[in-house]
Amino acid sequence: MSFSVFRASVRNAAAHNPMRRATRLPRTTFRNTFHRKYSEQTTPPPPAPEAKSSNTALYFSLGAAAVGAAGYYFYSTNAENAVKSGVQAAKVKANFVPTKEDYQKVYKRIAEIIDDAGDYDDGSYGPVLLRLAWHSSGTYDKETNTGGSNYATMRFEPESKHGANAGLDVARNLMEKVHEEFPWISYGDLWTLAGVAAVQEMGGPKIPWRPGRIDGVAAQATPDGRLPDASQGADHVRNIFYRMGFNDQEIVALIGAHALGRCHRDRSGYEGPWTFAPTTVTNDFYRLLFDEKWVWKNWDGPKQLEDKKTRSLMMLPTDYVLVQDKTFKKFAKAYADNEDLWRQDFAKALATLFELGVPTQQFVSSEPWLLPTVDELNSQEKK
Ligand code: HEM
Repeated sequence: MSFSVFRASVRNAAAHNPMRRATRLPRTTFRNTFHRKYSEQTTPPPPAPEAKSSNTALYFSLGAAAVGAAGYYFYSTNAENAVKSGVQAAKVKANFVPTKEDYQKVYKRIAEIIDDAGDYDDGSYGPVLLRLAWHSSGTYDKETNTGGSNYATMRFEPESKHGANAGLDVARNLMEKVHEEFPWISYGDLWTLAGVAAVQEMGGPKIPWRPGRIDGVAAQATPDGRLPDASQGADHVRNIFYRMGFNDQEIVALIGAHALGRCHRDRSGYEGPWTFAPTTVTNDFYRLLFDEKWVWKNWDGPKQLEDKKTRSLMMLPTDYVLVQDKTFKKFAKAYADNEDLWRQDFAKALATLFELGVPTQQFVSSEPWLLPTVDELNSQEKK
């Protein structure tokens, strides 16, 4: 069966399957159903900093970044690195100082691209953009304080070619188009903002976010092996996420992102979606883990599980660890039973993930922002 036939059959199954709870709804329906119950919980975004103070903050942070880059020079004795980081800071300073409204424009452009996916996968670029943001941030190592989204080093080989990043060229190329339109934004800010837009536009919770990452150079790229290997067990999952500074509850909350998107045989070797609504943020990943009977898939690919009932959904060995490990299972059950709890915990952990390794003084605002969705912007404009 070709992939497109398979995808079509999953989409059909999604439309008719009683296990399915959520599907892609028009934006407005979403707001009325999903979002209403969360709107009371989200605090309004802090007022945008005045253009002048925002500039000052940015100049300061870029100055600090340049100092950071100079520090890096002394450690690495690589003059080119320091010069390049300094040049970027100078370029931004001379040409343009973005405000919160400018970042909102970038968000809006990303949201348009997410929806303009045609026949790609399940009709949305949201999942692959979220994966880009996570793989850019998830290389962080708290011991050496290296990795993370600060320098956006996945732009460089060999990091771009690491096995775990297979297929993320799709997402990077999409964001390259956005960068051409908004050349002042750093890639780390752009990619993490895309992760935020993906979650929010697919009906997820608000993800606190603020700009301040800077572009680095190839020498800052991270070594292979920092991202998780899906064929492994609980120890490996813990080692990888503890290295980033997360605890067991946060690990379980983050992996719930697998409600979204799918595996691609030509990228990771694995195949298929986790849920029947892979472009909608739900806690279905946890619910299906507990409600369905999972069996090993009989095929010539890597070891993965499939649901016994429809054989159209999948779980990775590392996903299944969440019901095999006692501590993980406790959190997974809580998230299966309480979607609101998961949304809150997911938003918090994802915001933390996206800021790993970014020096606080680089951020243009002391508090992260809660950016409105495109729906919210449109209804504000109508008023
Ligand atoms: C133990 C941890 C994890 C492992 C082993 C893992 C592994 C994988 C694999 C093998 C794929 C399929 C890639 C492909 O074939 O295209 C995938 C997809 C995905 N992962 Fe994870 N992942 C983990 C954690 C996370 C986290 C923490 C997030 C986000 C917060 C995330 C978000 C996604 C998304 C959205 C996709 C779908 C991408 C698409 O549809 O193109 N994953 N993951």
